[in-house]
Amino acid sequence: MKPSDISKEIKRLVGLIRYYNECYFQKGISEISDYGYDQLLERLTQLEEAHPHLKWPNSPTEVVGERPSKGFEVVYHQTPMLSLTKTYSEIEVVQFVERAKKMFPNATIDFICEPKIDGVALSILYEKGRLVRVVTRGDGEKGDDVTRHVAQCLPLPQNIQNPPCDAFEVRGEAFMSKAVFKALNSARKVKGEPLWANPRNITAGTLKALDVEGVKARQLAFYGYGFYGPSYTCPTQQVALALLSALGFSVPPTYKVCHNSVEIMAYIRYCAQYKKDLPVEVDGVVIKVNKLDQQDRMGRTAKSPRWAIAYKYQPERAHSTLQRVTFQLGRTGIVTPVAHFSPVLLAGTTVRRASLYNADELARRDLYLGDTIFIEKGGEIIPKVVGVDRARRYTDGQPVRFICSCPACGTLLHRAAGCVAYYCPNKQGCLPQLKGGLLHFSHRKAMNIDALGPKTVDALLEAKLVQTVADLYTLRYDALNGLAGFQALSTQRLLANIQGSKTRPFDRVLFALGIQHVGETVARKLALHFRSMERLQGATEAELLQLPDIGEKIVQSILDYLKDPYQQTILNGLQAAGVQFILPEPVDTLLPFSSKNFVISGTFQKFTRAECTKLIEAAGGRVLPAISSKVDYFVAGTKVGPSKLTKAMACGIPILEEDELIKMMA
Ligand code: IVH
Repeated sequence: MKPSDISKEIKRLVGLIRYYNECYFQKGISEISDYGYDQLLERLTQLEEAHPHLKWPNSPTEVVGERPSKGFEVVYHQTPMLSLTKTYSEIEVVQFVERAKKMFPNATIDFICEPKIDGVALSILYEKGRLVRVVTRGDGEKGDDVTRHVAQCLPLPQNIQNPPCDAFEVRGEAFMSKAVFKALNSARKVKGEPLWANPRNITAGTLKALDVEGVKARQLAFYGYGFYGPSYTCPTQQVALALLSALGFSVPPTYKVCHNSVEIMAYIRYCAQYKKDLPVEVDGVVIKVNKLDQQDRMGRTAKSPRWAIAYKYQPERAHSTLQRVTFQLGRTGIVTPVAHFSPVLLAGTTVRRASLYNADELARRDLYLGDTIFIEKGGEIIPKVVGVDRARRYTDGQPVRFICSCPACGTLLHRAAGCVAYYCPNKQGCLPQLKGGLLHFSHRKAMNIDALGPKTVDALLEAKLVQTVADLYTLRYDALNGLAGFQALSTQRLLANIQGSKTRPFDRVLFALGIQHVGETVARKLALHFRSMERLQGATEAELLQLPDIGEKIVQSILDYLKDPYQQTILNGLQAAGVQFILPEPVDTLLPFSSKNFVISGTFQKFTRAECTKLIEAAGGRVLPAISSKVDYFVAGTKVGPSKLTKAMACGIPILEEDELIKMMA
């Protein structure tokens, strides 16, 4: 790049970052994803490092963030509220650990990992145990006094008995829990008000609202992560968290002292899995040097401490432009609208499509082609459209409407009373439904007919050799062998697979039938209770309703299925073929860990290794000596073997802690 181009690029980046800072900190609106913002900042930092003479005075890379808002008293912090160095790279975390270790070659150094809470940083000042002031981070030097706002919507300890010292400061993160956010947004939806994009925006907006009274319904919460008492210092961050807890503050719901990069990585992965169950949005893990004297010796840069780093997860929400909406037909005939949009990076993958759920949701979203939509990838794998930015709507876009007839066979769609979904009633003639039903039947977790993949199913349907799952058992070698794509060997394999599927236990047969709302767990419960198809067919509504966790919707679906003459013919065909319609096996094949392999390592608090093995075996699992692709779970205690742990992580094997194992067994 020419020097003049570099200078132009720096100017562009400074302008953009300042604009987004202003939107976020002054108006509580986030017009760019976190990831996009971090990328801009990262690029500017790199250019400034390579060309220091082109760096702007007061560059956004030097300034922590927010400028004071109008209408708030400005308060200077006793010590600056810094930002954290952020990274999306695991290697940079390892480098951080190595750097820290090098600084203390003759001492032990450990780290404390905490979830990075996606909220708004606050400083809370206490004098003689009484809360006197709450201040936002502001530009790091000075922030806004939001004491009056906090009094309305954020319960904090007001009077602390036996404070550890006369004056002290607690720092931490204010946030809105996912549950409150959801409830508030539902209420806004009912009133037709625009929805909030995420809990952090609403938290920032609440603390900066002009009308203090108006924020009463906004129930915010707070996790403390820093204690600063000039005359009382904690030896470690771990002790500081314990002290905060003892003083009556909530602290992050999980944190862990780690001794090396491997343990830190394991915690980062653990949090990635566990964060969906936390009450608060977590966007990463903060790794801090645990001992405070070591923190002091490591010091800080202009903007952030050298003793901490924030590892951020890839973004899970992004925005894009709606290009078209198609209608997808599921194996049970249900029609789902699907949004197609310009590709965006979301949680590590590029996504182009997301579910719009059903006709009601589509109508509620009131979408137009060309709209800017928000896409989210939560715990679930399928991304979803979570909102639309009406302010950016093209006036000449076309409205998106639900369809009336099946996109595959043209049959008029139906909607069952009380249901949101439209479905195509043409079960016997609608090709995608037939194909979906056959593929579900052959699925690994159902009848596990390995050789029956999408191409084979297409060929069988096209040749009209198969229409229903029962027809699979009538297939003959001669009829198949002549078909395109069917060689002698593959035909034999398919037929052998189909024969082999006759030994699948009754619970898997029930799941394989593809009865709506009957997943693996429900199928297992039904099989265990009724133990034969005959008894299930004779079951009354009342009897089915008595089963735990089986509600009206599931019961109705089972009853509809069983009384449908078309399905009865299929069931008869399966029974005649010799598919398992009873459950003769001993109960232990249905234990929680049936056919699951474990490796255990380290020491445990609640049991010895031998006891742990016995517990796993009693629950139907097997304990193997070494990590291999056969292993389903790695159970890690304290002092876990690092090589096993690294190997388990490399193989992508889920790592369970003691408590998680116990929970799963229950
Ligand atoms: S420690 C020197 N711990 O992340 C900064 N920060 O980009 C010390 N944050 O302003 C902060 N969770 O608002 C720390 N467990 C945690 C955190 C956390 C969220 C926020 C905080 C800070 C920002 C830094």
